[in-house]
Amino acid sequence: MHLTKEEERLLESDTPATRKAMELLVELGDIYGAEEMVEIESAQASGISYKSIGDPGVEFLEGFAEEGAEVSVTTFANPAGMDFEQYEGMGVSEEFAEQQRRIRDALKEMGITLSFTCTPYLAGNLPHRGQHVAWAESSAVSFVNSVVGAKTNREGGPSALAAAITGRTPKHGLHLEENRRPTHRIDVDVDLDDQSEFAALGSWAGRIVEDGKPYFTGIDAATTDELKALGAAMAASGAVALHFVEGVTTDMEPPEHVDSATFGAGEREEEHAKLNDGEDPELVVIGCPHCSPEEIADVAEAVEGETLDSDLWVCTSGAVKTWADRNGHTETIEAAGGQVLADTCNVVSPIEELGYETSATDSAKAANYLPGFGNQQVVFDDKRSLVEGVIEDE
Ligand code: F3S
Repeated sequence: MHLTKEEERLLESDTPATRKAMELLVELGDIYGAEEMVEIESAQASGISYKSIGDPGVEFLEGFAEEGAEVSVTTFANPAGMDFEQYEGMGVSEEFAEQQRRIRDALKEMGITLSFTCTPYLAGNLPHRGQHVAWAESSAVSFVNSVVGAKTNREGGPSALAAAITGRTPKHGLHLEENRRPTHRIDVDVDLDDQSEFAALGSWAGRIVEDGKPYFTGIDAATTDELKALGAAMAASGAVALHFVEGVTTDMEPPEHVDSATFGAGEREEEHAKLNDGEDPELVVIGCPHCSPEEIADVAEAVEGETLDSDLWVCTSGAVKTWADRNGHTETIEAAGGQVLADTCNVVSPIEELGYETSATDSAKAANYLPGFGNQQVVFDDKRSLVEGVIEDE
């Protein structure tokens, strides 16, 4: 692998963390056959929930910070295991909170922006088309590759952190234009009426294409929230990091000579049923990926003046929560008995320790992951139906 003089210097840095970061990237570059590094504009650090990394992760991050780890590009943090200000209201233990705060402090010492969100593009870190970045959370990777047109591989926690420190990543995979071509064609032959139907399509398509790059036809229009739901679902049921939606995210001609499949009304109903294995949720969670301001406003409108007979979490970034606070949406949701949580979600928080057995979600990503946590049962439906379903009868 060709290294520039600057990269050679980083490899011999007096700062142990910098040296280790560069060594890791060179090793990864050799594994993937990269010929050179590419400079990046931003990074996204994942693997920072105490639930995911436990005590060894806390000690690694603290040790790395002590060894001089410091990011050299804008680096946003993925969601943590709790809302730092409302963890008690979530039911998170003080022991968990203490370890999560140690992780936060280590990230801060490294210069990482304490954004704690999987939608950094809604919260102040929006790359532009063609920029190389090193992001790690799978739905965010999908969004910046597919909707924004930036270029990133699906990084792991350590490789994203190493890229953040050195400001570069091995140039392979989706950093190369020749690898950014559709591998499958998916013809959508049914109306997608809301965000959960985009999620169901993504969940179905991800299983078919696995780590391929699907090209969708038949979708006339999609909102930003619908596109983030589609990408998140495909990243969870498969490992899709790049997709194309004809006329919406790309002007590219449909691919020829690739495998194709059709998503019709039958597939839509079947996928919906597949994602739905519970009833009577004790907790409704909206915000996977993290909510936009519009999604929070929708929830607030649905619960205004009502009382909920289940818990409700509306998960978002701290930045978007500030807007929700200012616009009175947080107050409206809290008055109904719900919570607007920043920094976390029901997948990266210790949901299995919080007394919930059945959760409701409009996210196919969450519906794919939740059954793995203490056999959580899942109710999957669109946002409005879920919220209206837990409003107390008069
Ligand atoms: Fe984000 Fe958590 Fe969903 S990290 S994509 S809200 S599983």
